[in-house]
Amino acid sequence: MSSTLPLHMYIRPLTIEDTTAVSALESRGFPPEERAALETTQYRLNTCPELCSGLFIRDVEGSEVKGEKLIGHIMGTKIPNSGSTSQPSMITLQSMGKVHDEASTTVGIHSVVIAPEYQKKNLATLLLTDYIQKLSNQEVGQRIVIIAHEPLVPFYERIGFLLQGENESVKTDPAFGKTTWCDMVRELVKEEYES
Ligand SMILES: CC(C)(COP(=O)(O)OP(=O)(O)OC[C@H]1O[C@@H](n2cnc3c(N)ncnc32)[C@H](O)[C@@H]1OP(=O)(O)O)[C@@H](O)C(=O)NCCC(=O)NCCS
Repeated sequence: MSSTLPLHMYIRPLTIEDTTAVSALESRGFPPEERAALETTQYRLNTCPELCSGLFIRDVEGSEVKGEKLIGHIMGTKIPNSGSTSQPSMITLQSMGKVHDEASTTVGIHSVVIAPEYQKKNLATLLLTDYIQKLSNQEVGQRIVIIAHEPLVPFYERIGFLLQGENESVKTDPAFGKTTWCDMVRELVKEEYES
């Protein structure tokens, strides 16, 4: 790992108390038409905090902990199953809203952001890898789906996501229609440990 990685870094589930920090980071990562609305963020952090993960740095002075700063996040919800065993459900304009279906086996990631000053240090890779590992071992669902800007497809492929094609739902909305959005799927497989 890079020697320029921030010190005192940790990952924990996000809670409703983190709403202000998450909203601020969302605004730094996405243009207005792509970022989650405040009430959508509140809904996700209230309804499924276990699917929302934050990367923090602890502000330490000597032995005193002054506070913590959010430098990256992932927000997910369970999106409704497609009803087909061969076709996993994909993110739709509807499931990007205030939607969480606890019975579903598909986790939809709606947002991945790293604060600009901390980008290109492998932190999104670290946060996503941790997220995938935890969800796999907790048997939260069968797969994770995401929609990615086309240039980011190789980035997600390196973390094990497979490209499915262009997302059909978001391109019907002019706000999203300016670029190509790709459906990607990562199957969740529980690691086996020797006893
Ligand atoms: C995408 C994002 C999360 C990556 O965070 P990061 O911590 O810099 O990522 P990592 O350091 O783990 O990996 C860096 C790799 O991501 C890819 N990448 C990042 N931004 C990219 C871009 N704009 N275009 C193409 N590839 C990009 C590259 O492969 C890069 O590797 P490189 O440095 O060798 O070129 C970050 O740039 C971000 O927050 N962007 C704004 C929000 C966003 O677009 N989120 C993705 C939603 S689909």
